[in-house]
Amino acid sequence: MNTGKTLILAIESSCDETAAAVVADGREVLSNVVATQHELHEEYRGVVPEIASRAHLERVLPVVRQALSEAGIRADQLDAVAAGTRPGLIGALLVGVSLAKAVAWSLSIPFLGVDHVEAHLLAGLLGDREVTWPAVGLAVSGGHTSLHAMQGPLELERLGGTIDDAAGEAFDKAAMMLDLPYPGGPALDELAERYEGELTTELPISLMKKSSLDFSFSGVKTAMLYAIRGKPRREDGRTIFERSVEALTPSQRMELAASFRSAVVSALMRKTSAALDQTGARTVLAGGGVVANRLLRRELQSLAEERGLELHLPGMAFCVDNAAMLAVSAHHRFLRGDRDPLTTTAQPTSRGRA
Ligand code: KG4
Ligand code: ZN
Repeated sequence: MNTGKTLILAIESSCDETAAAVVADGREVLSNVVATQHELHEEYRGVVPEIASRAHLERVLPVVRQALSEAGIRADQLDAVAAGTRPGLIGALLVGVSLAKAVAWSLSIPFLGVDHVEAHLLAGLLGDREVTWPAVGLAVSGGHTSLHAMQGPLELERLGGTIDDAAGEAFDKAAMMLDLPYPGGPALDELAERYEGELTTELPISLMKKSSLDFSFSGVKTAMLYAIRGKPRREDGRTIFERSVEALTPSQRMELAASFRSAVVSALMRKTSAALDQTGARTVLAGGGVVANRLLRRELQSLAEERGLELHLPGMAFCVDNAAMLAVSAHHRFLRGDRDPLTTTAQPTSRGRA
């Protein structure tokens, strides 16, 4: 099959998802395979880096083979191979980066390293709709929460971001406080969705300085802990709470989940609106696992309707970690003539960030 299109194989292994995708012309997803490791990390209630690296090693070749076979193409039809090179767990990233470089070398085609956060921001470009630039990009995942001014797919300027926890991390921790299954973000969203009454718990959320486009989610987490378990006191050097989570009625649990979700989403919405005001952009791109959150999706849709904005929300499969989103960025870099050397390696942080 000669499609006449640019075909890119992308490999993602930055955290606890081993993924590979084949994407044509940076928008048409021919395959998108994701092998999640959630079950391996569940008992630790968080990602264990060594377990993640080992699982990536075991899964990456079958995942890549499956991506090629589902796309119906042979490796020698590929134009380039991409991998997420940063940010992420270094041992985990190295698995995808090493394989992508090896495949590129063996086929004598270009290798392109992609920034995972930039790729989340570009997930909305998958599909048929054209994007009108400039745009405001909201990246909101388990490891990242940031706002960006985007003049084009490769011209991004970071406007602000979280100074402590990422929004997804805050969702996961609040879910743990409510004794919900791991990973907590989707479970908390599900519980909040079932609540139909008024929100009665005030959970203050720090909005930082008015002009700032930074976020802080550590305060709302503490407020959530106290709302669930009551005021803490020190006794014999230990912290004792008034009650345990079991003391909550099912309706109280739902209400707390809904209040927490509402507080986090309202911070994300306020700062996104402020970024639109500051940049004058009329397009919003949102990406990252938390964009699967139903309240956030509804609020972004209402904002777009109220202000007549162009909104690009990735489909659910392209919000959480996936490789197709990496191919979007790689495609635009490929067209620009970028080629990364095979000495490129994995980096734990994004470009220019500590
Ligand atoms: O983008 P992603 O798969 O990985 C990172 O790059 O971090 O995002 C995973 C994060 C987790 O914190 C997860 O709990 C959160 O996204 N998440 C959600 C929802 N679905 C996933 N958070 C809130 N509501 C959801 N429906
Ligand atoms: Zn991610």
